[in-house]
Amino acid sequence: MSDATTPKTREVISHNQTETFDLGEDLGRELSGGEIILLNGPLGAGKTMLVKGIASALGIDQEDVTSPSFTLVNPHPGRLLLYHIDLYRLDEGASAAHAVDLDEILTDENAVVIIEWAERLGRYPLPEDVWRISLSGDGDEPRRIAFSTGDAH
Ligand SMILES: Nc1ncnc2c1ncn2[C@@H]1O[C@H](COP(=O)(O)OP(=O)(O)OP(=O)(O)O)[C@@H](O)[C@H]1O
Ligand SMILES: [Mg+2]
Repeated sequence: MSDATTPKTREVISHNQTETFDLGEDLGRELSGGEIILLNGPLGAGKTMLVKGIASALGIDQEDVTSPSFTLVNPHPGRLLLYHIDLYRLDEGASAAHAVDLDEILTDENAVVIIEWAERLGRYPLPEDVWRISLSGDGDEPRRIAFSTGDAH
């Protein structure tokens, strides 16, 4: 077993949306509160599908997890409180973090925070132990999903 600060990276291929959902469920079962998960990848890569799986593992109805047009932050109560944040509609920079009041959200150490389009946070200072997940591929292509935890960026 490695300690929480040991950098770890791994990559998997997901062949369909169910595999991405299941991967999310596996991740969700590992969560104990306080995790910050940054999701990057283009439109339609499967970020929200992954969040649905994570939510399901936390006892949240996956139907409640969507990418609504106007809401930037969606809190979902479950085994842990899940904040699902989607920054797509915001420009890069500190203002994105400000717009969703990330400072305040990150004070909740028992919650899980998942951010789609996390690259829009720009230089917002994040703890070193964030999880970074990048997804690539679109249409019917398999998705490449790369994870890093600890301080491996
Ligand atoms: N392997 C796969 N994993 C995930 N989604 C897949 C896969 N193959 C096809 N899809 C399809 O791709 C779409 C992914 O949509 P999703 O909303 O999860 O993307 P997203 O990355 O959140 O996009 P956005 O940036 O618009 O929020 C779904 O329509 C899904 O059915
Ligand atoms: Mg999405």
